[in-house]
Amino acid sequence: MSSLLNAYPRGWFVVAFSSDLAVGQTRSLQYFGEKLVAYRGEDGVVHVLDAYCAHMGADLGSGGRVVGNTIECPFHAWRYCGTGECVAIPYAKKIPEKARQRAWRTREINGLVLVHHDPAGSAPDFEIPVIAEYGSNEWLPWTTKMYRVKTHPREIVENLADRAHFPRVHATEIEDFAFEVQGHTATQRVKGRAILPGGGVDNFSSTTTYHGPAYLLMRMSGIFDNYMLVAHTPINQGELDLRLGVSLKLAGDRKKTEALVELYMNNLKAGFEDDLRIWENKLYRETPVLCDGDGPITQLRRWYRQFYVAPEAPRAAGAGGS
Ligand code: FES
Ligand SMILES: [Fe+2]
Repeated sequence: MSSLLNAYPRGWFVVAFSSDLAVGQTRSLQYFGEKLVAYRGEDGVVHVLDAYCAHMGADLGSGGRVVGNTIECPFHAWRYCGTGECVAIPYAKKIPEKARQRAWRTREINGLVLVHHDPAGSAPDFEIPVIAEYGSNEWLPWTTKMYRVKTHPREIVENLADRAHFPRVHATEIEDFAFEVQGHTATQRVKGRAILPGGGVDNFSSTTTYHGPAYLLMRMSGIFDNYMLVAHTPINQGELDLRLGVSLKLAGDRKKTEALVELYMNNLKAGFEDDLRIWENKLYRETPVLCDGDGPITQLRRWYRQFYVAPEAPRAAGAGGS
């Protein structure tokens, strides 16, 4: 693996669906080679902290509990607030200055909890856009699925530019394919015909954008108007969690659309699992032999590398961070 990509990229990563964390709940997370804990305080706000307690190292995600808007360690009951500061120790007169957990920058939008990963701790230089329709009466909330995949994130990202895999892997004919990168976004626009597993054809058009290295949103019009989310988050150098979400626009009444969403999701999952089989078993070619009908793989690779470089560092230096 090239040394540059032997790190975790900078940017926003989904670490939970909002529905995974009710008020007063905690959730143990393992991402970027670290252990984290997410909790939702009584005020409804989600926080993400480093999991191992500054005191003697207990895992806050393993038996910690939410008290008010703080999380209490399961070992000696130190309490940390959302900024990571220790705000209460039941048996100490003075709270040590160093009693704090690293707090991760967190956003909750579009029914998702995201953290910003940056090896240098720098502020985000982009945000994930709000989906205006999400949560409205005309759209269903996400139907979700999570996969644990043994691959490097770049394989998933490369799919966006890989025009030539559609017919063979997804039984989809591509009529128009356009690709463009702009700063932290990479966008694919496709018009095509998908052959449905149950027979029939779906003439669709889609616009799919990566916002940063790991958050993909597709807006598709076809049999259904829908949003598809594909968000991946590295666990370590060899594994990642991939979250799939589908939100359908109501077609007819709500009940009818709800009945169809499962079928729709099953189709999507099947398509996804076809990609997954390839990713988990393939080799990464640094210099693939490409032909004229391939998509803009090289352009995408160049775009993706920006997330492995610290913002202050000159690109050529190739500083990757932790
Ligand atoms: S280890 Fe957390 S309070 Fe002691
Ligand atoms: Fe694919």
